Amino acid sequence: MTVPTSKKILIVDDDQMSRKLAEFVLKKDGYQTTSVESGEACIEHLKNNNDIDLVLLDIEMPQMNGIETLENIRADKSIADTKVIFLTANEFSKYKEQSNRLGVLDFISKPVYGPEILERIKAVFAKETTAKDTILVIDDDRMNLKLAEHVLAPFYNVETSLSYKEALDYLSKELPALALLDVHMPVMNGFELLAEIRKIKDCDDLPVVFLTADSDRETEIRVFREGGLDYIQKPFVPEVVLERIKRILSLHKLQTSLESEVRRRTAELEESRRKHEILSLQVVKSLASAIDAKDRYTNGHSSRVAQYSKEIAHHLGKSIEYQDEIYFVALLHDIGKIGIPDNILNKNTKLTDAEYEIIKQHPNIGVEILKNITEMPNIEIGAHYHHERFDGKGYPEGLAGNEIPEIARIIAVADAYDTMTSRRSYRDALPQDVVREEIAKGRGLQFDPVFTDIMLKMIDEDTRYEMREEEQTQ
Ligand SMILES: [Fe+2]
Repeated sequence: MTVPTSKKILIVDDDQMSRKLAEFVLKKDGYQTTSVESGEACIEHLKNNNDIDLVLLDIEMPQMNGIETLENIRADKSIADTKVIFLTANEFSKYKEQSNRLGVLDFISKPVYGPEILERIKAVFAKETTAKDTILVIDDDRMNLKLAEHVLAPFYNVETSLSYKEALDYLSKELPALALLDVHMPVMNGFELLAEIRKIKDCDDLPVVFLTADSDRETEIRVFREGGLDYIQKPFVPEVVLERIKRILSLHKLQTSLESEVRRRTAELEESRRKHEILSLQVVKSLASAIDAKDRYTNGHSSRVAQYSKEIAHHLGKSIEYQDEIYFVALLHDIGKIGIPDNILNKNTKLTDAEYEIIKQHPNIGVEILKNITEMPNIEIGAHYHHERFDGKGYPEGLAGNEIPEIARIIAVADAYDTMTSRRSYRDALPQDVVREEIAKGRGLQFDPVFTDIMLKMIDEDTRYEMREEEQTQ
């Protein structure tokens, strides 16, 4: 690492011995140093000298301590971007949070002595050198290039191109922070060249400032219309060039960092939304398994009904959102069975009238269970209405036709289909032709005719009768 001579360091410490030692060590290493004994004197010095490259600031000082001093520095626009390293005789960690907030570059233990400390100061300057922005100046006039280089080189890495070819060649390999582009050039003028530059990968939002000797309104308008961020009048006034470039670069950086922050936050939110969605689905699936586990002859029933309902919705040309919604709702259609005694649910023999009345309570119990899920207002529709019949002879409300919510009319067909195509305690799955016949028989009576027709179509397409409970290997 090269010794960064001529860098000016201000040492701020209330302890005279510490100041003297630091000055001695740093001067020996080629730095120019000044030292002051208080926060107030530090601020005063920075305001009067705008050439301080780095401040070594003692944290523990009487009156205004290092933290307060730095807060005041950051609050004063004229010195706010001062580079600061904290000095402390204590543990760094307790100042960590405040230091991050105040943009402190590093911590150094007192006394300032020893090669490690010098390396850390050098590292701060090295980072600064490598972080210099590059500016590409494109102009066919060598004198102008020289002049621009002279003005900009102390603050930026300057690259120059004498022709459009050189410029395009450079930009296809490197991406500068900004390009200064002459309007009047032979073969391809500045505006034409900018159009070519925009076609290069990553150059589509390269900040470009035009250089022009023209002062007419037409050129001015064209500069902005063609995508230039600003223009600089030739011949250059060095201070104006520098200030404009500084301002454009800081605005562009701010915009870029805001954009990337927005992208980062959006991605985070999307990820968190996705996780919540997966979590909800997992919770609902677990609930559905709990329902199915209670009834030993309906293993997997809820998942299959959900799947068939979604399938019907898909055949209807419903949106993905609708299909996902019906899947959720159907998963929970039998949740009310949680409230039905096991001995009734799992009874092998015919139910008595009284027992059947108890079974018929499960839609209402389902509504009670689901009514607290306010984030998905329709979640209880399946549980509530899946035993309603199209002809009005169902339960619990005895609704008919379109009075029954559409989702529940779809689930009702899927539910009946799965009941027939899965095993029961007293029988195997019914043959496909029998199932088809039963579904067809219910058209317009038990089931909505539209959804019956879709179910029949699905049955007809299922030539190998795969749409049913999987055979259990025993
Ligand atoms: Fe049911």
